Amino acid sequence: MTDNGQVFHINARASSASREPVVFSAAAEKRADEVIAQYPQKRSAVMPLLYIAQEETKFVTQQAVDWVASKLDMPPVQVWEVATFYTMYYKKPVGQYHVQICRTLPCALRGARKVSEYFHKRLGLQPGEISNDGMWSFEEVECLGSCGTAPMCQINDVFFENLTDEKLDVIVSRIEKEQPDLRFSTIRDELGAGLAGSPKSEIIQS
Ligand code: FES
Repeated sequence: MTDNGQVFHINARASSASREPVVFSAAAEKRADEVIAQYPQKRSAVMPLLYIAQEETKFVTQQAVDWVASKLDMPPVQVWEVATFYTMYYKKPVGQYHVQICRTLPCALRGARKVSEYFHKRLGLQPGEISNDGMWSFEEVECLGSCGTAPMCQINDVFFENLTDEKLDVIVSRIEKEQPDLRFSTIRDELGAGLAGSPKSEIIQS
């Protein structure tokens, strides 16, 4: 069972076709080695290495898991155990902008259902689907750690908080028009420029 309640078939991903080797970039290899060197035990680097692998393969593929497992001398199934526990690791392809809507109690009490309905109507998508142009996908997830600014969502690696329909209209329209970089790169250790003028965190600003 995955973090969002969907049944996850590890064996299906381990077919020979899906295990064709993938060559990771020199930058990814270098960054992974730097990260591993920071820990007394290699396996402690499993989470940052999963981020690096996901950056290379866009979602956590069998090859990504095999790469992490071989870098850390871990059985692949133990890497899968970590990847399937956390929603920040994508277990299937996502859109260019992937929206994760928090549905846990504080956000639920402050209107998370309306946020989900907004994306459903605005994008014409059900949770887990990708838009035809590949630009959008969304899913509901558990607490993202910003309960004080509920309801909130994360788009790629950036939080958008205290959401209302009006605010979402502005955010979605601006993203469609400006196509900002909302990704954090573990390989480069830097966050994209984000949506100009939009705070990185409303709590820190207040
Ligand atoms: S309950 Fe939504 S961020 Fe914590």
